Amino acid sequence: MNILAIETSCDDTAVAIVKASKKKFEILSNVVSSQIEVHKAWGGVYPTLAKREHENNLAPVLEKALKKAKNPNIDLIAVTNGPGLEPCLWVGVNFAKALAYYWKLPIVPVNHIEAHILANLVDSNIKFPAIALVVSGGHTQLILVKGIGKYRILGETRDDAAGECLDKVAKILGLGYPGGPIISSEAKKGKAGINLPRPMINQRNYDFSFSGLKTAALYHSKKNNLPAGRQGKTKQYISDMCLEVQQAVIDVLLKKTVIAAREYDIKTIILGGGVSANTELRKQFKKKFDNVLVPAKNLSTDNAVMIAIAGYYNKPKNWTKIEADANLRIW
Ligand code: KG4
Ligand code: ZN
Repeated sequence: MNILAIETSCDDTAVAIVKASKKKFEILSNVVSSQIEVHKAWGGVYPTLAKREHENNLAPVLEKALKKAKNPNIDLIAVTNGPGLEPCLWVGVNFAKALAYYWKLPIVPVNHIEAHILANLVDSNIKFPAIALVVSGGHTQLILVKGIGKYRILGETRDDAAGECLDKVAKILGLGYPGGPIISSEAKKGKAGINLPRPMINQRNYDFSFSGLKTAALYHSKKNNLPAGRQGKTKQYISDMCLEVQQAVIDVLLKKTVIAAREYDIKTIILGGGVSANTELRKQFKKKFDNVLVPAKNLSTDNAVMIAIAGYYNKPKNWTKIEADANLRIW
């Protein structure tokens, strides 16, 4: 079965075509048009601009995806209908509905978080029960996965998502957008020494909080701003801050995952979402657990291949009944 999938929940316009069967997922095309350049000036995603960009980009991205896949017959259309930025979600949902109507194809709505989890099925099998840690710019959730379609959110962030925290700290340090990848490369030059808090790390629940870490980074950097002319030192300070912020985020994510894995007798740890592209996070999770699944980096960040895979496991719905839902939950 060939699935054409569409993803527009945030700032990536993505279309993929995946040949799906019970045994494997073959990626026929995977096109992502990033809006990073458009949002850079704002230091974060500006929803109305993102919506406009999706509207402009979707048709050419679809054309590219069809061409790359050599125009195969399409059997099913899958589209992200939440969670995400509502105006952006609607662009993808309406576009998908129009295609489904015109091509007379079934259409299946997909939960973006489930898609981040199932991205791992491209080249692995999941042994259940599993714990999924979905960490991105919009979400930080620890999810018990008893099977495909059987999810329970154990905990989630009470304020900023992990990626949002990294993006905001990068902004504070004047490093540009998106912050996650920049912090990751700056941290490689960092030396240990700065001590920032690990919010909620010792609380006996699976929730997270990252806004306090961002504020602590803000106060620390205000206190330590070196005067002009001492740029060399400032550069080292920035790398040291990146190392500490990255480690604080990893420490909290890792500790809560370790406790959950023990409590639920877990067979697989699944990572997903943009922050799971972080090299240090992957390394430290793999050191702690011998059963970690994490997608290739281009399938960790937003893409439509994962939407196709999740679409394969969900039921098509009457196109007139499909709606975007910014706060769609996985359970
Ligand atoms: O999953 P994603 O592409 O979009 C959302 O659903 O939010 O995640 C984007 C987030 C951004 O916050 C970005 O800074 C972060 O993922 N990110 C990273 C890395 N690559 C992307 N964070 C840490 N290290 C990376 N290498
Ligand atoms: Zn995402």
